[in-house]
Amino acid sequence: MPVVWHIETHDTLPSTQDTLKERARQGKPEGTVVQAITQTAGRGRHGRNWVSEKGNLYISLLLKPAGEARFIGQMGLLTGVALAETILKYLENPDVLTLKWPNDILLEGMKCAGILVETQLTPKNTLSWVGIGIGVNLVTAPAGTGRSLDKYAAKEFSMIAFRTTLLSNIDKYYALWSKEGFEKIKEKWLEYAHKKGTRVKVKLAGRTEEGTFQGIDDDGNLLLTDSHLNLKKITAGEVYL
Ligand code: BTN
Repeated sequence: MPVVWHIETHDTLPSTQDTLKERARQGKPEGTVVQAITQTAGRGRHGRNWVSEKGNLYISLLLKPAGEARFIGQMGLLTGVALAETILKYLENPDVLTLKWPNDILLEGMKCAGILVETQLTPKNTLSWVGIGIGVNLVTAPAGTGRSLDKYAAKEFSMIAFRTTLLSNIDKYYALWSKEGFEKIKEKWLEYAHKKGTRVKVKLAGRTEEGTFQGIDDDGNLLLTDSHLNLKKITAGEVYL
């Protein structure tokens, strides 16, 4: 069954993610989407601020996948693939796009879009709901760290058309995940990601790991080999290429 998207749009919110979480707690259905034209307290991963000027896309959406807590990472990667495919549709040169683990979309090495996944678990440690927050720099980006899509687009595009394509791509990959699991999404993610063998540095809580990128595992964790060729699994952290 395709997801039926119910979109509520606001001029300004502190954070679409916080409003979406309220909706989830009120029992709203899968497919609930909250969009804001600007946010006054947009949140990124690791408690960072997400600059939210007018013209870009700020949405949060509610999914209710059946299953275990370990699927959370897969939901983020699935969204990353859908977002990459949406952005690719508009790019003049597809080679500028890279997916960076876990959830960043880069254009020429700087961030164009980010994804924040938050969830509520049941007492049995299964997923009650998943809130996926997506910010896309469509027309403006933080100077020095971000890129906006308009600078790389083949032709003009509207935010509404972009949102429609994105939601339809999320629906497509969510249906694939529900039917066949993570394998094909993992393959797609690796196709768009930095190449195996890339040297990466990962900032973890209290320490840094360095190694060579070897891909992702079946739960979407990052796999690296260190200088002794030991394979390491990273479940959370900030990657520097
Ligand atoms: C990141 O890369 O750090 C994730 C950024 C996620 C930003 C989006 S914008 C819409 C939604 N509302 C928020 O407060 N954050 C997410």
